[in-house]
Amino acid sequence: MEAEAQPLIQALGLKEDVPAKIVGPAPCVTYSGEHQGLAVHVVWNGKCKDHGVDNVGTVPASLSTYLAVLAFKPDVVISAGTCGGFKAQGAAIGDVFLGSAVINHDRRIPLPAFDKYGLGHAALLATPHLQAALGLKSGVVSSGNSLDYTDKCMEIMTGHGAALKEMEAAAIAWACALYKVPLMCVKAVTDIVDGDRPTAEEFLENLHSAAAALQGTLPKVLGFLAGKELQAL
Ligand code: ADE
Repeated sequence: MEAEAQPLIQALGLKEDVPAKIVGPAPCVTYSGEHQGLAVHVVWNGKCKDHGVDNVGTVPASLSTYLAVLAFKPDVVISAGTCGGFKAQGAAIGDVFLGSAVINHDRRIPLPAFDKYGLGHAALLATPHLQAALGLKSGVVSSGNSLDYTDKCMEIMTGHGAALKEMEAAAIAWACALYKVPLMCVKAVTDIVDGDRPTAEEFLENLHSAAAALQGTLPKVLGFLAGKELQAL
């Protein structure tokens, strides 16, 4: 969402790409600049022209990722944003996590082989040194197209040890895998999935503080990446 991207764009002094690096009708908007010698591109999914709200979920995420990887040819992609966190996995509001793997909790296809395809478990780039250096928590990221969840979604998330719930990472992982580009997830917790507060209320209350926590961490992540081989992360 724009509210998640803007603090980082400002903190890094990135400029909107004009003329656009990704041309319409794809709705994504890109910003570029430099940080500690790294070329950095921030991509957000733009707004829905019919509803006037930010595009969210797996469909815009995979489209933006596919086009952005094609346009920018990155060494690594970072899915950065907010998420719900499971207190049973040690998550608290405002925590910033690194993802260890992604799954989908709302792609249930009970047919031979399609069941595993639907779950779409995929490991993310291993970053143990980064995690230790920045003192971040780590866990499995579970993606789906709803802010809420069904009992079945919850069963899948807990059954696979999900620590984080959001709406994009597994789709971004799929598009990155097509191009064999490594993916990291850096996610700030806005709400507690296994808590007792209504998600939407808790999310709106904490969106800006979580985006600020993300903006505090992402430049440090980029600084750690600068000049390193992937294996050193
Ligand atoms: N983004 C932030 N919190 C979320 C949640 N609980 N579910 C999906 N996406 C989110």
